[in-house]
Amino acid sequence: MMDLKDIRIGFAFTGSFCTFSKVIAELEKLTTQGADITPVISYSVDSIDTRFGTANEWKTRIEAVTGKNVIRTIADAEPIGPKCMFDILVVAPCTGNTLGKLANGISDTPVTMACKAHLRNGRPLLLALSTNDGFGINARNIGFLQNCKNVFFVPYGQDDPTRKNNSLMAEFDMILPAIEAALNGKQLQPVLI
Ligand SMILES: Cc1cc2nc3c(=O)[nH]c(=O)nc-3n(C[C@H](O)[C@H](O)[C@H](O)COP(=O)(O)O)c2cc1C
Repeated sequence: MMDLKDIRIGFAFTGSFCTFSKVIAELEKLTTQGADITPVISYSVDSIDTRFGTANEWKTRIEAVTGKNVIRTIADAEPIGPKCMFDILVVAPCTGNTLGKLANGISDTPVTMACKAHLRNGRPLLLALSTNDGFGINARNIGFLQNCKNVFFVPYGQDDPTRKNNSLMAEFDMILPAIEAALNGKQLQPVLI
């Protein structure tokens, strides 16, 4: 296994609130591998209280695990480009909303701004999907981003084909091997699980 010691990882949360516990467990694993992690959150994550927890509870947890304040404004995300802040940027979970924006060059949240700033440096961006419209209106955006330079996916599949037949969800416990592959310029295979 690759040593993540001193690898600078941007780790961005978007508003798929039901996945946060799972994703934070993976974030904890990354910290034990010695990675230097900077958290970024979207406006939704910064402001929406849900049945899964309040915005403040999640922010406090993310900051406790990473030991850093969250980047929560576009102004604070902008220097990610000029300062070459990250070796890799992970968006986990990545909502359909954020995915659609990325595929269309929109950067109106701290997370989409972070992606734009990071990609300008030609460095890997790794997306961990969690969206009910993955096989619906967002299917074309997934297909588009699969073919974009420096964009990689955490392997994903249908999480509930019977009740939510358009829903796609990353296998979050594959974030670590997907990071290692993306740092080597490779898409972890197989993509579909
Ligand atoms: C309780 C709750 C759960 C949600 N879960 C998801 C989800 O799993 N996937 C998704 O794409 N959007 C989900 N959404 C909708 C997003 O939060 C919404 O599209 C938001 O605009 C996303 O903004 P962001 O991508 O900037 O975080 C959920 C919203 C709420 C209130």
